[in-house]
Amino acid sequence: MQVLYRNISQLVTCRGGVRRGGAMADAAVIEDGAFLVEEGRIVRVGTRRELEQGYRGEAYDCGGALITPGFADSHTHLVFAGERSEEFSWRLRGDSYLSIMERGGGIVNTVDATRAASGEELFSQAQKHLAKMLEMGVTCAEIKTGYGLDTQTELKQISVIQRLQENEKMQIVGTFMGAHALPRGADADEYIDECIRESLPAAAGTGVCEFADIFVEKGAFSAEQAERYLRKAKELGFALKVHADEMTPSGGTRLGVRLGAKSVDHLLKICDEDIALLGKSDTVATVLPLTAFCLGEEYAPARKLIDGGAIVAAASDFNPGSCCTYSIPLMIALMCIYMKMSVDEALCALTINGAAACGRDKVSGSIECGKRADFVLFDCKKRECLPYYSGINLVRSVFTEGEKVYG
Ligand code: NIG
Ligand code: FE
Repeated sequence: MQVLYRNISQLVTCRGGVRRGGAMADAAVIEDGAFLVEEGRIVRVGTRRELEQGYRGEAYDCGGALITPGFADSHTHLVFAGERSEEFSWRLRGDSYLSIMERGGGIVNTVDATRAASGEELFSQAQKHLAKMLEMGVTCAEIKTGYGLDTQTELKQISVIQRLQENEKMQIVGTFMGAHALPRGADADEYIDECIRESLPAAAGTGVCEFADIFVEKGAFSAEQAERYLRKAKELGFALKVHADEMTPSGGTRLGVRLGAKSVDHLLKICDEDIALLGKSDTVATVLPLTAFCLGEEYAPARKLIDGGAIVAAASDFNPGSCCTYSIPLMIALMCIYMKMSVDEALCALTINGAAACGRDKVSGSIECGKRADFVLFDCKKRECLPYYSGINLVRSVFTEGEKVYG
């Protein structure tokens, strides 16, 4: 059956493939647009006039709304137990994320809670987060492991991700992040050896995670350790991601580019030389505005990255430590107000480029023939309203594969 979606004041398509640099300024918007969906896929896109001509089938009146592709949140740590609001209040009093980690706090506290939790508890918590993300228009979410730091618990997180893949309407992309932090009392070199010997091959054996990721940072892992881990991951068939240059410039970006990583993420402390590298590479530069906001740090230099020709994506980094939010409306406002991105750039970063960071840009991320009919209908008429109503969720309904799943 075919359905024509019509009466759309602005149809933000983001069609034409992954956007780099200056091309991000144009989100390919059709005024008074329409599109045709058949069997969950988009089969035609154009103006209402073009698509209505001779059409006799079923139609869905969008009421003059703004429509965008579904958002791809390409960086989350959403399978975990417990919470760390106490650390947050310490940071409000002047502590830093790294000093809390040095004192033995941080990620390892969530590791304790996650080891103690059952798979069922982790699954139901994760489902609650995903339901709220869907309400804000997220139709594709990447999820990392990394709160196990031992093979058994990492595999428990992987099986939760697998259940989410089987049960959720949105696309769920798995990432193994055994090297998220140093387990209590461990030696970093020995722990990387253990990942190479045990957890990376075990994770690869499940076939659930397409990506492997590592935290390259002072107090976590060095670029040399990361190279050993990532080379093994690549050999096992994982595509690569790197937590790079977040708190200190640690060489994560140049390592990621050199190894052909799909994305390097964070980039708060990236240097000009590495920005130039990303401008010439197919590695996606993923900025995480909500993390910088929650940590009270300076934002990643999105303007410089775009002007330098990089493929820039934006994601939430939702996790219980540095960023306990996945608010898309807040993220859009931060990108436009503080990172000096235009609305079109922000939308490209959250749709087609986010899909690219998830390895999904051929199947989703734009409203274009052949793609999944994953889209968001808003309670406003134009895209400028998204940052203008700062932090307010304007989503009216969300569709995945042509089916209304929210609203
Ligand atoms: O991306 N940087 C490392 N990982 C997370 C923080 C995880 C946590 O604190 O629990 C991040 O910011
Ligand atoms: Fe992260």
